[in-house]
Amino acid sequence: MNIGIGFLGFGHIGSGVWGVLNANADTIAHKEGTTFTLRRALVRDLRKPRAAALPDGVLTDRFEDILGDPGISVVAEFMGGVDPACGYIEALLRAGKSVVTANKEVIAQRWHRLETAAREGGAGLYYEASVGGGIPVIRTITDSLQANDIDSVMGIINGTTNHILTRMSEQGRSYDAALREAQEDGLAEPDPRNDVEGFDAAYKLSILSSLAFHARVPVDRVYREGITRMTPEVIRYGQELGYAVKLLAIGKKRGTSIEARVHPTFIPENHPLASVRGAYNAVFLHGNAVGNLMLYGRGAGDLPTASAIVSDCIVAAKAKDHRYNSFRNEARPAPEVAFDGNWQTKYFLNLEVIDRPGVLAAIAGILARRQVSVASLIQKGYGTATVPLIFVTHQTYEQSMLQAVREIESLPDIIEIKALIRVEDEDSA
Ligand SMILES: NC(=O)c1ccc[n+]([C@@H]2O[C@H](COP(=O)([O-])OP(=O)(O)OC[C@H]3O[C@@H](n4cnc5c(N)ncnc54)[C@H](OP(=O)(O)O)[C@@H]3O)[C@@H](O)[C@H]2O)c1
Repeated sequence: MNIGIGFLGFGHIGSGVWGVLNANADTIAHKEGTTFTLRRALVRDLRKPRAAALPDGVLTDRFEDILGDPGISVVAEFMGGVDPACGYIEALLRAGKSVVTANKEVIAQRWHRLETAAREGGAGLYYEASVGGGIPVIRTITDSLQANDIDSVMGIINGTTNHILTRMSEQGRSYDAALREAQEDGLAEPDPRNDVEGFDAAYKLSILSSLAFHARVPVDRVYREGITRMTPEVIRYGQELGYAVKLLAIGKKRGTSIEARVHPTFIPENHPLASVRGAYNAVFLHGNAVGNLMLYGRGAGDLPTASAIVSDCIVAAKAKDHRYNSFRNEARPAPEVAFDGNWQTKYFLNLEVIDRPGVLAAIAGILARRQVSVASLIQKGYGTATVPLIFVTHQTYEQSMLQAVREIESLPDIIEIKALIRVEDEDSA
């Protein structure tokens, strides 16, 4: 079976997909009985130098050349962004062409619209590469864990921030230095906000938790906090307590209530996710039949991402009936689903205080009034005018903790709230 294929975009990922389609053509033909012919690839600028050469006449700057080509039945999108990608994908689906996309932003924000277009056009919509790059996490959830109720998903799903935090943790680098090095190594964008502020991880968590919990989790229901305020000092204090810091994407389901959050998190250093270093990604989930499961691998890069995209192209090309999500996929969440912004977890609180009698009692009083119970308290250093204090709490409610911190901040002897980091361990499952 030979499949005519189109590309939307021919940048970093597009060149990787072209490379895998060529280098592994015999393998794919041998295993799947499928060959692909790239008929058209859409780019913005036809004169731009390309990392890989395409046959003459394949590059185009006219979307209509792909939409109107009856020989193209599958289109792979890796141009990125919401517009115009969304409109292009929608038009292709309505025209009956299946679409494979690596674009987490368009899926997280316009999934409902694209899925409706796919159903109505009788086409398939595939997005394995949108989360976890080369890690086959989407199909693992949809096609291998269907028999489970999944109640928790925790992931390191942004390689840039994991690389920065690894450098800060292992080499004591400041945030700014670690970011600069990541940019020099090509692992962070010149404008890094999408990664370091947690947007990218929030898009991916919206997709993952919707699939895992079988209910639409819109991205605006994902709590988001990035890594820009992390310091090597706070990471070191955490390490002294046996924790590693990760930007975790956490989804949990209790009954019909879902919590979804992205934030820096301390996890025990013997947790499987603690060993995920550098630009690697991993997703750790719990199903009521399978138990704990972890998927680990390269979450970005041209070839790992191409591995997922080409796999989707094969599935799209061979599907007799395309499958769609069976949960209600609309812009707004289903009315029966509640979103919990007052989750329970443990907290690490680092304060800089004036070393005066009574300061500890005042802080302890506030925590007690807000029903925050302290598991441990450490004072770092003595004999200086100000000292760092570290509290680790037992499980407590998010809103109680935030309220307590606001009150503590207004005490006269508090110089600074240096960090409030959520702690996930076996009690938080
Ligand atoms: N990079 C990764 O490791 C990775 C991993 C997983 C998923 N993804 C996702 O893959 C997608 C692409 O990433 P990338 O790194 O390959 O980006 P990229 O190198 O910037 O490539 C984007 C391509 O799309 C084309 N393009 C962009 N806007 C266009 C428009 N309005 N009309 C026509 N063509 C347009 C560009 O054309 P020109 O070449 O002419 O400028 C370029 O060829 C993104 O959604 C990204 O989130 C990336």
